[in-house]
Amino acid sequence: MSLSKVACLILGTAGLAAAHGHIDRVDIDGKSYGGYLVDKYPGQPNVPELIAWSTAATQDAYIQTFDYSHPNIICHQDAKPGALAGEVVAGGNVTLHWSRWFEDHRGPVISYLANCNGSCASVDKMKLKFFKIEEAGLLDNSKSPGWWASGELMAANNTWTVNIPSDIAAGDYVLRHEIIALHNAMSDNGAQAYPQCINLKVTAGGTATPKGVPATQFYKPTDPGILVNIFNNLRTYLIPGPALYNGRGAAPKVTAVIPAGTSSPAMSSTPAWTTLAAAPQACGSVPNRSAP
Ligand SMILES: *[C@@H]1O[C@H](CO)[C@@H](O)[C@H](O)[C@H]1NC(C)=O
Ligand SMILES: *[C@@H]1O[C@H](CO)[C@@H](O)[C@H](O)[C@H]1NC(C)=O
Ligand SMILES: *[C@@H]1O[C@H](CO)[C@@H](O)[C@H](O)[C@H]1NC(C)=O
Ligand SMILES: *[C@@H]1O[C@H](CO)[C@@H](O)[C@H](O)[C@H]1NC(C)=O
Repeated sequence: MSLSKVACLILGTAGLAAAHGHIDRVDIDGKSYGGYLVDKYPGQPNVPELIAWSTAATQDAYIQTFDYSHPNIICHQDAKPGALAGEVVAGGNVTLHWSRWFEDHRGPVISYLANCNGSCASVDKMKLKFFKIEEAGLLDNSKSPGWWASGELMAANNTWTVNIPSDIAAGDYVLRHEIIALHNAMSDNGAQAYPQCINLKVTAGGTATPKGVPATQFYKPTDPGILVNIFNNLRTYLIPGPALYNGRGAAPKVTAVIPAGTSSPAMSSTPAWTTLAAAPQACGSVPNRSAP
């Protein structure tokens, strides 16, 4: 058993809940929308109507890699569509604010859109076909374990701004935004996916109707971007999932600069203190459930 798993078990029995983060606010074009406050809303009688999808991930837990073909990977645990939609002009920006994040939860930040073919409020999530509109992963590998998109998000007050492609057809879309934490990803079933969804009404726009794929087909537990030791002086990191949609206005937000041969030769194995430090937030994936 790995050191991190031991620490996880010890801390787990000590009663520390898994605690990571969720989107608690969305800003679009000067307007603020509330997120689904998973630490408050479940079980509450008068939950406001939201653009955000509800989830049952009350401990801010993650989706484990063994569940990447389970419907929970679409918009998180037992997710249900929000009743409202945030209006954004094609080519505009959507800024997502995370309640919190952890420096050691390093990994890529990825965003997708799926057309609902009508209102997203009652959409069947199994029919959503997503195309990837943005991705950012290992941004600088000069000092292992590197500077990651997740760090960039934290440096921006836990926000990430997604640029909506300017050429897509107007309509109702689900924006699926996700951080994948890789601090335990050197082990089977170690990567942690944190998907969050909101409904958007895209206005103006063009005529593009990009082909998408169901989220249950994005990732495999053995993908090189999922089963990966980030403490092993990575030269490059292959962001998992389908190819980026490269229509107009959908250029990647950040271009990773990976200078060849500049990684430090110092550490060749996982430093124990790093996995230990990661452990308190590393326990508690979402349990398997049968599809509804
Ligand atoms: C979840 O389901 C997957 C695939 O069916 C299985 O491999 C895995 O062991 C399950 N995990 C748990 C915690 O039951
Ligand atoms: C979107 O944000 C980027 C910077 O993140 C900015 O350069 C661009 O002008 C913004 N676009 C709109 C339509 O506000
Ligand atoms: C929208 O239409 C496309 C094309 O027919 C289809 O593949 C997709 O599953 C539909 N999406 C939903 C949410 O019904
Ligand atoms: C950071 O986010 C918090 C929480 O939403 C907000 O209250 C605060 O104004 C933000 N700070 C900056 C500098 O944007």
